[in-house]
Formats: sequence, structure tokens, C-alpha cells
Amino acid sequence: MTPTALSQSRTDLFRPRHHLTPESTWMNDPNGLIRHAGRWHAFYQNNPLGSDHANLSWAHAVSDDLVTWAHQPLALSFTEEEQIFSGSVVHDEQNSSGLAEPGAPGPLVALYTSAYTDAHPTLAGIQAQSIAFSTDGGTTWTHHRDNPVLDRGSRNFRDPKVFWHGESGRWVMVAVEAVDQQLLIHTSEDLLTWELTSVFTHPEIDGGIWECPDLLRVPVRSEVAGTDAEGWVLVLSTNPGGPAGGSGTYALIGDFDGERFTAQASPQPLDLGPDCYAAVSFSGVDGDPVLLGWMNNWEYVNRTPTSPWRSSLTLARTLRLVASTDGSLEVHQHLVVPDRIATVDLSEVAAADSPVVLDATEPFILRGILPAHASWTLVLRFGDPAKPHDLVLSSDPERGVVLDRSAAHAEPFAVEHARSLPYLPDPGREDLTIDLVVDRSCVEVELDGGRALISQQIFHGASEVGVTLTPIA
Ligand code: FRU
Repeated sequence: MTPTALSQSRTDLFRPRHHLTPESTWMNDPNGLIRHAGRWHAFYQNNPLGSDHANLSWAHAVSDDLVTWAHQPLALSFTEEEQIFSGSVVHDEQNSSGLAEPGAPGPLVALYTSAYTDAHPTLAGIQAQSIAFSTDGGTTWTHHRDNPVLDRGSRNFRDPKVFWHGESGRWVMVAVEAVDQQLLIHTSEDLLTWELTSVFTHPEIDGGIWECPDLLRVPVRSEVAGTDAEGWVLVLSTNPGGPAGGSGTYALIGDFDGERFTAQASPQPLDLGPDCYAAVSFSGVDGDPVLLGWMNNWEYVNRTPTSPWRSSLTLARTLRLVASTDGSLEVHQHLVVPDRIATVDLSEVAAADSPVVLDATEPFILRGILPAHASWTLVLRFGDPAKPHDLVLSSDPERGVVLDRSAAHAEPFAVEHARSLPYLPDPGREDLTIDLVVDRSCVEVELDGGRALISQQIFHGASEVGVTLTPIA
């Protein structure tokens, strides 16, 4: 086998089956997520010409189930004068924008950041918000003739996420002044003219620039029967300064009155691992919001050993608030796991005398309940015994539960980000649920009924894995 053929086959072994990846090019943030006409649409930051962060455009994929994705034609392309940065899509059902013909069904409207290049005659270096619309369900897009629709003359104003706020009868846009670490809230009646209503800052999120905000209306599940409440969660990404180092995402529980967001608790990690960035929700979903993140980290994305494709999105995750009897709220998230993947119960692993061997080229999930405050070690040993690559989930009563990928790679990879943040179960809890999904290079763990998620990439290239659990007492 020639070296090229070898590296090509390794890269193919890294490609997950149930996570969205670009066919042969670069990917970063999910953009324009929307459930429309019964299908899930994901757009994403893409370089249609290469494997690096350049020529930014919106690629497009659709899915019926959030785990099998079909690529569509490029939706929005860069030009010499303009990069198409991150943003969102809404269904303008009432045609408030007038962008569809009178009487025709309302259009899909994309709000994205125009990052103007030095070649632009009047706006070089500026980032402003622009519009494109689609009247054929998202396949083809037309740029609005009066772009940009919101320009503050800023060089770092970006990532508009728009939603309809029924109580005030207005569209709401959250976007960031990235370098100033500010969230700007604008409102509009027609998606075309925007008014600034408030600026939100937070002293505890100061480790880097702010990017890709989302403001979620979230149902509250309560232990008190009959309550039918909802709360608000601001999801915000920062680079660096993420919870697990490098770029990462926070969640802030709070309140929103149509104009102003107020935080009611300290920021918490949306994910305890290093590989969940720019997470945002699908428009067009009632009930629990559904989110996708970029499953990578700006600190080492250019060193991820896949070629020519680079990066994937996370599995989808639903988010909800759960109220305890004292009234405090917790963020819970659940992975959307494919129905048809191999499932192994951890009790089977614990009872086995030898490692439980699985096909590592196919996605699988390890599921079970382990003691919340005991020492145990779950080892996933990839490859042949002479040259194993270990991914380790371990629990220690003092230090909590940690996912460690330091020995999981064929070549050293992102050593400074090998371990997730620890998860410490509540002292009163006896059992800890574990759902650990491995889809080739993508590993996601849901802990403790959804109280914590960990996302990590691993690059071993092995086709077999042996799973052991020791000791369980
Ligand atoms: C976040 C980000 C966004 C920007 C896009 C450019 O990863 O930097 O703020 O819109 O990527 O690709």
C-alpha cells in the first residue's frame, strides 16, 4: 500500500457515520438550523474550495432524523468582496418582510454576517448583518438588494440569531460585538429594519471573544405537578476562555422580556469536553430546543488529522430546564442517539471475564447505571493489544467523573486538552446513568440523566475495541 493510500484509509476510518461532515472540504459553525416542512436543515460555515478556514460560505444538508444527512448544493457563496459568516434562518410565515410575492407562501429568510474583504469599495473590514431569502424551501437563495440591513460600522459585529417573540409581536436578533464581549439585542417588525433594545455583558465570561449567541425559550419540567412554566437560556460561545480550554460554550439561565435578557445564575459549561463550539438551536421547533454544535476547537482544528474533509458537527441534543423542589433550575440535555446502533449494557461489561469486543468501524453506545460516588474505570481499548489506544472514563469520589483521551490517539493529539472537566454528581445521588456514544472519531457522553455532556474527538484509526469496567462496587 502506498503512504497516500494508507493515510486515505485512516482518514476514512475517522469519518463518523451519524455526525454531519463535509464531503471533502472545511467546516466550522452550524448556521441557519431550521426544521421546515418536516425536514431538518443544517447549513454550516464551509470553504467550498479547500480544507482551511477561508472562502467562507454556507453549505447545506438535510435530514429526516437528525442522524442521516444528505448534502445539498452550496446555499450562499463567498465573493471577492464578501465572506458569508455565521447566522440563522427563520420561516417568515406571514411574509412580514415582503420578500415573497404577495399571496405566496412566506419565504425562508437567512440573516448572516457579511464580513467585507479589502476588495470591497466602501465597507472593507466591516462586519454587518445581511439577508438572503428562499421561496423554494431552502434550495436556492437570493441576496437582498439593500444589504447590509444592519451596519454599525463595526469590525467585529456578527453571528445574528433571530427568533419570533409572540408576546411583543416582533422579531428578535441576538448578535455579538465579539471583541467588546457584548451581546446586542435588536428587534424588528419586518426583518429588514432593526432597532437596538439592549446590551448584555457578563463579568464571568471574559476569557476571550464572544461568538455565536443563541437565546432559547425553554420549557421547565417541575417536580411540583401541574406547573407549566418556561425559562430562558442564553447560549454563548467564547474563544478562548471555553470551559474546557480553547474555544467552548456556556449556558446562562435567565429571563427575557422581549427587549432585555437578565441572567439569574452563573454561567455553566454547556459541555464538559473541548469539542463543542458555536452550539445553536433549530428554528421551527416547539418544546425542548434542539441544538447542534461544531465538534472541534479553534485551538487545534488545523491539527486534526483528517484530510481533505475537516470537522464534524456534534450529535443533536435537546435541552430543557428542570426545577427542583427548592425552585432552582438545572439545564438538562439529551443526546439524539440513532435508533439502529449497537448497544451494550455496562452490566454485561462488568460481568464479563474478558474485554467485550466491538467493531469500532461502526457506531455503538455503552449504556448503564454505575455508583455515583465510587471509584471505577471504564476503558475502551482500541486497536491490537500490542499497540493499544485507550479512551478512559473514570470516577473518583473526590475528583468526580472525567473522560480522558490522552492515550487514545495513534499520534499525539491536543495533549493540553486531553481531559474533560470533571463532573461531580450531587452528594445525595446514589446512581449515575451513563450513555457513551462512539461514532468513529466522535465520542459523546451523557451523564446523570442529562445533567452533563462531554464531547471529545479521538483519532486512533483502529477497527476493533475491547471494553472493560473495573472495579464496580
Ligand atoms: C465562530 C466564528 C464566528 C464567525 C465564523 C467565521 O467560530 O468565528 O464568529 O461568524 O466563525 O467562520
